[in-house]
Amino acid sequence: MVDRNGWARDHPVLTGSLQRPPAAFLEQANVTDSDIYDEFDERWPECWERAADLLAWDQPYETVLEDEDAPFYRWFADGQLNAAENCIDRHLENGRKTHTAIRWEGKHGERETYTYRDLYVATNEFAAALRSLGVDADDVVTIYLPMIPELPIAMLACARIGAPHSVVFAGLSADALATRMDAADSEYLVTCDGYYRRGDAFNQKSKADNARLEVDQDVRTVVVDRLGEEMPHVLGDDEYDYHDLQRKFAGETVDPVSRDAEDMLFLMYTSGTTGEPKGVVHTTGGYLSHVAWTTQAVLDVKPEDTYWCAADIGWITGHSYIVYGPLALGTTTVMYEGTPDYPDRDRLWEIVDRNAVDIFYTAPTAIRAFMKWGESYPNEHDLSSLRLLGTVGEPISPRPWQWYYEHVGNEECPIVDTWWQTETGAVTISTLPGVDEMKPGAAGPGLPGIDVQIVDDDGTEVEAGDSGYLTIAQPWPGMARTLYSGDDRFREEYWERFSNPEENEWRYGSGDAATIDDDGYITVLGRVDDVINVSGRRLGTMEIESAITDVDGVAEAAVVGRSSESNGTDIYAYVSTESGHSVDESGMSEMIERSIETAIGPMAKPKSILFTPELPKTRSGKIMRRLLEAVANGEELGDTSALRNPEIVGEIQAEIREE
Ligand code: WTA
Repeated sequence: MVDRNGWARDHPVLTGSLQRPPAAFLEQANVTDSDIYDEFDERWPECWERAADLLAWDQPYETVLEDEDAPFYRWFADGQLNAAENCIDRHLENGRKTHTAIRWEGKHGERETYTYRDLYVATNEFAAALRSLGVDADDVVTIYLPMIPELPIAMLACARIGAPHSVVFAGLSADALATRMDAADSEYLVTCDGYYRRGDAFNQKSKADNARLEVDQDVRTVVVDRLGEEMPHVLGDDEYDYHDLQRKFAGETVDPVSRDAEDMLFLMYTSGTTGEPKGVVHTTGGYLSHVAWTTQAVLDVKPEDTYWCAADIGWITGHSYIVYGPLALGTTTVMYEGTPDYPDRDRLWEIVDRNAVDIFYTAPTAIRAFMKWGESYPNEHDLSSLRLLGTVGEPISPRPWQWYYEHVGNEECPIVDTWWQTETGAVTISTLPGVDEMKPGAAGPGLPGIDVQIVDDDGTEVEAGDSGYLTIAQPWPGMARTLYSGDDRFREEYWERFSNPEENEWRYGSGDAATIDDDGYITVLGRVDDVINVSGRRLGTMEIESAITDVDGVAEAAVVGRSSESNGTDIYAYVSTESGHSVDESGMSEMIERSIETAIGPMAKPKSILFTPELPKTRSGKIMRRLLEAVANGEELGDTSALRNPEIVGEIQAEIREE
């Protein structure tokens, strides 16, 4: 089977052999009962009560799953709860008031600690402030903040009053922010003056200002003063200073609003197969149950732990595993503002050492960088507090896995390779570290209660050893409920291809390809749709292509992924120019880069831009991206005779060889 993107070409799947997690870990793991898989199978869907029971419900649910309107599933639908109450208020009992909720590590060595009591006060005050600005239940509040404590505080303040948040990654551009605010009809924005990026003070407010000019609706804006004198700013109409509001509402409390389990907790925009980013809708009860359960069962987090997920809250990983999961369990979550190599390459290990971090969760792209920098950096520090390591965001091959295991975990910590997506809400494929053996290079089986199936084009499960599409054949509580732009697109994007509505058979298509081995362990190969995963960040090729074709003189563009040692995938752009347009290639490359930076953000800039007189096309005029991807990767091309312009392929190849 060869997909249009050609992923099934010749991916050699390399996995190590099964390894038992260290005995000392097994003795203390949260979940150790190997019957858990059978138990979930036999009691499905009621098995998911186990997750929901980790939460405090204002009104207990009676029905676990409603599936009459598949694929629009409803979980715990007749129950009511509040997410902020679950993440904060209930931990104030039992002497946990003074327990640290958030430990913040600033870029320049600043530190802040929020106990659960502090977090209670801060979120109540900000919830009161948001209300005073007119925010009501169901109003979407957009949050455009870097990794500062006000980010989770603002999210939880929204949750407290039942206003869904839409966090937009701080590195995205003004245009990207405006598109998301428009799409969500969001009339409220929380942002800041600026923040430190690579050592420099960077102006965030001006991006927010530009976005406000672009959106149709009036926007009330709260501005956090992060940089003080270093980034003076003036507040305009409808703009409020965060700290002024805090003073004004000092000591105020706001009762948490009971939400139906199916009420929206947040929106998270992500890249899909069209140019329009998708607003993925997550609900209160199912999402929080699934996130809390996986934080406990997969990441083995206990309330007394210090837990660190080194991701950005601007993406789903940070929502689920910096904010909601760890706080729902009442643990200490570390939040780090900076980068791994500032001021030096041992920065993360210094933070682990000083805070005695128990659990560390990061992305393979970071691990590949640590490996390149060498073991002397982790060796300089005492990492013996670590008990479990995790990875997420991309496939991790056996070599970096082994490096992580030896040099960070000292062969004493199991590694969980967790596969999931913005749309799945929480982890769906991983080993359970207290139950399963680990296999370097394979994520593991579907979690208990998650029916992962690798299928071929006809939707038939593939044999062990073969590859196919990664699908999920049963609903699960953390799953996205719909897309904000509408139910039709949700159906089309995820359900249509592999489901059989006449038979009422529904199967979620993840957009990933994978193989499954004799042990039932799944190795994810990568995306099969028009999404590329650069250093664990999801970018839509269509969005990048449209930013390129916005540039004067560009006729067409095709963006593909090229395998990369360090980033997993690099962006590779082929560009043809309008006929007769004389190209100064370097000038045009610069314009293209600027256009991408404006439309999306700097992280979407291509590693390489190749100018070509034409792009290879089928006779019906479709650009052959698969072929261009193979060319970029230096792979065999096979038969190109079906192309309208086969000669162009040779020219492109010759040019790449010259590079
Ligand atoms: C990829 C991030 C291999 C995959 C949580 C998926 C992975 C996309 C893994 C989702 C993993 C995530 N092994 N690939 N352990 N985890 N991916 O929505 O392609 O930002 O579809 O969610 O990342 O990216 P997203």
